[in-house]
Amino acid sequence: MDHTAETRTAAERASTQAPDVSQARLLSVLDTAVDGIIVIDELGRILVYNRACERLFGYTAEEMIGRNVKAIMPRRYADAHDDYLSSYRHTGVARIIGIGREVEGQHKDGAVFPLDLSVGEAQTPDGRQFIGILRDARPRAEYEQRVAELQTELLHMARVSAMDEMGSAIAHELNQPLTAAILYLQAASRRFKSISAEPDEMVLEVVGKAMREAERAASIIQRMRGFIEKREPKRKRCTVSGLLDESLELALVGSKGRRIEVVRSIDADVPEIEVDPIQIEQILVNLIRNAAEVLVDREEQRIEISAGLYEDRVRLSVADTGPGIPAEAVPDLFKAFSSNKRSGLGLGLAISRSIAQNHGGDLSVDPGGGGRGACFRLDLPVGTGDDDATDDNRPETP
Ligand SMILES: Nc1ncnc2c1ncn2[C@@H]1O[C@H](COP(=O)(O)OP(=O)(O)O)[C@@H](O)[C@H]1O
Ligand SMILES: [Mg+2]
Repeated sequence: MDHTAETRTAAERASTQAPDVSQARLLSVLDTAVDGIIVIDELGRILVYNRACERLFGYTAEEMIGRNVKAIMPRRYADAHDDYLSSYRHTGVARIIGIGREVEGQHKDGAVFPLDLSVGEAQTPDGRQFIGILRDARPRAEYEQRVAELQTELLHMARVSAMDEMGSAIAHELNQPLTAAILYLQAASRRFKSISAEPDEMVLEVVGKAMREAERAASIIQRMRGFIEKREPKRKRCTVSGLLDESLELALVGSKGRRIEVVRSIDADVPEIEVDPIQIEQILVNLIRNAAEVLVDREEQRIEISAGLYEDRVRLSVADTGPGIPAEAVPDLFKAFSSNKRSGLGLGLAISRSIAQNHGGDLSVDPGGGGRGACFRLDLPVGTGDDDATDDNRPETP
């Protein structure tokens, strides 16, 4: 029939013309894909290699068409690939076809990088072909690494904060027996004096010493509790020497037996400052502890703390005879997690600076180096700094 004949002619036309047209269209579509697309035949020869692949691997399509796909695989994958293809041809057991997984690719310049690969299979008149879709997994690998780092940091933080809570609890637990011990010693000393006409001086002295040691322990614990416990910030007038006394006592806990020399000097014109004492002590404790830590095993172990008026602010400097801070560490020094210590969190200086700035002051450093230790400078305004805040002058908002 005419009609059938015409249809057949159309179909024939389509079968002779369409492949070129649709092939070209298909290739241009493949070139717009973000993912790399590679088609190989049963022997691993590349039939299609789109533009994204050129970006991924550095080879052009002209270089790659007809070549074995092993060219863009690192050695350990390449060696196994022929066997894999032939075993699949014979057994039909697929290890990757129809499944996605992470593999490695090799760039023209030799660099090996992670790739997400999924492979599909197609039966064509020319035989079996495999279509691989490739996605650069580097951004994901970096992201995963960052997440892993953050997780480690988080775990560490959680441990440290658990320690803080334990510290509080321990301080509380120890306070009671210490107070009891002091009371028993007082009672013993009183009783001893009252029952003997000539009490043994040596015994009295020893009991007195025991009492003073227990009192000192209790006072350190008391101070630690105040230091650790969560509380609302509260400013009050404080003397610089009082702040230093308390900070030094806490900061040097655990440094007994070390030969750290602490030199302090406070200029006569340094006024009282209006600050939250616990917070300022937190800064000073951190600075002094950091200094004490870098002084371990140093020939000269000295911490110099000085206070003076600097312009209209009080400047507290904490300098040490340590190695100073390497130039490359300085830019990140006040950022969180910038510790080079195994047990350090690297939060001390970050928190210290933010406390200083909340007080209208600042924390800066002269990194020293070349035989000079680091010198941290804490600048604090004398008042609360509220007088130059504009909030008070602003009309009230409804
Ligand atoms: N006085 C100092 N001399 C040399 N390096 C210091 C000094 N103080 C701090 N640093 C460096 O700055 C880092 C960050 O300090 P900090 O924020 O207190 O965190 P952490 O004490 O937990 O490490 C320290 O790990 C150390 O490398
Ligand atoms: Mg520290």
